[in-house]
Amino acid sequence: MSGPDGGSALLEAVEVSVRYGGVAALSEVSFTVQEGEVVGLIGPNGAGKTTCIDALTGFQPLHGGHVRFAGRVLDGVAPHQRARLGFVRTFQSLDLFDDLTVRENLVVAATTPTWRSTLTDALWPKRQRHDAVDDAIDLVGLGPLADRRPAELSNGERHQVSLGRALVARPRLLLLDEPAAGLDPAESAALGDLLRSLPARGVSVLLVDHDMALVMGVCDRLHVLDFGRLIASGPPAAVRADPAVVTAYLGAQPDQAHQDHADQDHADQDHASSPDHATATDPAPSAGEESS
Ligand SMILES: Nc1ncnc2c1ncn2[C@@H]1O[C@H](COP(=O)(O)OP(=O)(O)OP(=O)(O)O)[C@@H](O)[C@H]1O
Ligand SMILES: [Mg+2]
Repeated sequence: MSGPDGGSALLEAVEVSVRYGGVAALSEVSFTVQEGEVVGLIGPNGAGKTTCIDALTGFQPLHGGHVRFAGRVLDGVAPHQRARLGFVRTFQSLDLFDDLTVRENLVVAATTPTWRSTLTDALWPKRQRHDAVDDAIDLVGLGPLADRRPAELSNGERHQVSLGRALVARPRLLLLDEPAAGLDPAESAALGDLLRSLPARGVSVLLVDHDMALVMGVCDRLHVLDFGRLIASGPPAAVRADPAVVTAYLGAQPDQAHQDHADQDHADQDHASSPDHATATDPAPSAGEESS
């Protein structure tokens, strides 16, 4: 399947619309993620980013449009079946099992069968699962914390567990909802290095985050949502210079820019902005982006 950006699209959102009652949360949103890409999905609070991940992964019914994954239209395919196809997400709320250890949190994810694991389990029972858990623990650097419970961990470490749990399923496409929320700059930079390493391991990424240093540094392309509509798509440098994106999200004073925008008359949509939620942080150019 050829996407609008050319090449073979691993994921294709085709005119995806979602409504919550009378509220249009997503309106005919179309974009692609190509195999081997790290793609950012950004926009102000309430723009529809989490709704988009929910819709793509089957957690939220579509009011219109389609989702294609690896050339297959996913109409009627349940979230757990999408995960088995290699289409795996994390949650903004993290959703860790607090009474399980870090390792057990990952083992639970590894025991969700996929067609690949069913096949390999027949040849190498259990070994495959433990390998996947060990690989994920190593990859996200959770080794020293493997026997701790989530309540004993820092916010950054809890995010690592969430990411590890998603990676244990060995996804083809990983959808991450604010993996850098609350991370300090060093943790965010380490996360960026990890995300950049994933395509070489066969994992493409759709990244939702407000940490612009991270997003601009690691993403090959960006898609920008505002009030449920796609307002820009392209390489990070072009998107950052796009006047519509600057006005909606990345202005010189991002908090004020979005507040002004939110104050406009959108009563028909009743979009709730969350001014206490982190808005775009550090939209300054990053070394990674400048070299790309
Ligand atoms: N379950 C729901 N019921 C009704 N409205 C909802 C629901 N979930 C989200 N919304 C609304 O849909 C819109 C999009 O919300 P969404 O959570 O997708 O935004 P977001 O871009 O992820 O924001 P943030 O950056 O704050 O996480 C908002 O107006 C929000 O209030
Ligand atoms: Mg969200």
